[in-house]
Amino acid sequence: MGVGVLGTGHYLPTKVITNKDMEKIVDTNDEWIRTRTGIEERRFAEDDINTSDMAFYAAEEALKEADVKAEEIDLILVATVTPDTPFPSVACMIQDRLGASKAAAMDISAACSGFMYGIVTAKQFIDTKAYKKVLVVGTEKLSKITNWEDRGTCVLLGDGAGAAVIGEVSEGKGILSFELGANGAGGKELYQDENDHLVMNGREVYKFAVRQMPESTVNVIEKIGFSREDVDYLIPHQANIRIMNAARERLGISEDKMATTIKKYGNNSSASIPMALSESVKDGKIKDNDLIVLVGFGGGLTWGAIAMRW
Ligand code: ACO
Repeated sequence: MGVGVLGTGHYLPTKVITNKDMEKIVDTNDEWIRTRTGIEERRFAEDDINTSDMAFYAAEEALKEADVKAEEIDLILVATVTPDTPFPSVACMIQDRLGASKAAAMDISAACSGFMYGIVTAKQFIDTKAYKKVLVVGTEKLSKITNWEDRGTCVLLGDGAGAAVIGEVSEGKGILSFELGANGAGGKELYQDENDHLVMNGREVYKFAVRQMPESTVNVIEKIGFSREDVDYLIPHQANIRIMNAARERLGISEDKMATTIKKYGNNSSASIPMALSESVKDGKIKDNDLIVLVGFGGGLTWGAIAMRW
């Protein structure tokens, strides 16, 4: 038996904010944002849509795609750094709203790597046969913690949610290897300050990411005896197109084999990988039996990579 993805879903806020719109908020310009980050526009959630609402919509879609009823879910894991409240958790909020009556529920705090931590945690519960089906969600309303006076960060962020139902799949398919990591000493490079704003030392995070993403990607592939040429599709954390391309080039794979939602959605922290995964599935970019790699990094500092046979 393997453990893999049974269904995916995502939620996109309807408010589209272009780089031109950002020019009205801070001293920036479309050309700078495009060339330094690859971002063209991002989505912001309306005032009455909170992190748990987006999580709920993404989860509903994932359950439908998986053809799994909410009552069948044993555990709900929600990765987020922008929960509606520290407690109750977003996981508990959606447990009630979905009607997942038998599910245990908790949030995971691993910043942009949160969805990776969630998937790997889900796998352990299913491997040990403690649980059969786990719902993992990445959801962020980053616009709540954005410093609109800091042009170095506010142009990067967007809101959204993505979800996956994890369960048993046939032998040889699903999650084949993973790597999770943390370096607390780097916490000072990316954090939430006393005003609740996201603060980032862009250059330091860039240096960390451009090294870690390719390294972790190669590690999970080599762990299972494959080589980089075997990778059919790469889903990196959508933080900066230059960081993503560094990972892609290290693998020697072409642009069309990498999910690049950053252009339209910016950086959605823990939601970016599941949003890109769900969209890639819907767009037919991931085919049966493809070897895919999900790889993320973020505040903590944390990182994670997963190799998966689709
Ligand atoms: N518009 C115009 N100019 C800007 C902007 C902006 N929005 N932001 C910064 N600048 C200016 C700076 O002030 C600086 O000017 P100076 O040279 O006169 O001082 C110049 O541009 C260069 O600034 P740098 O910070 O060196 O720019 P860099 O090329 O490093 O790009 C960036 C900045 C895009 C933030 C990059 O460092 C980066 O992508 N870092 C990693 C970000 C990341 O991966 N975050 C992920 C975690 S966050 C999360 O996921 C929630």
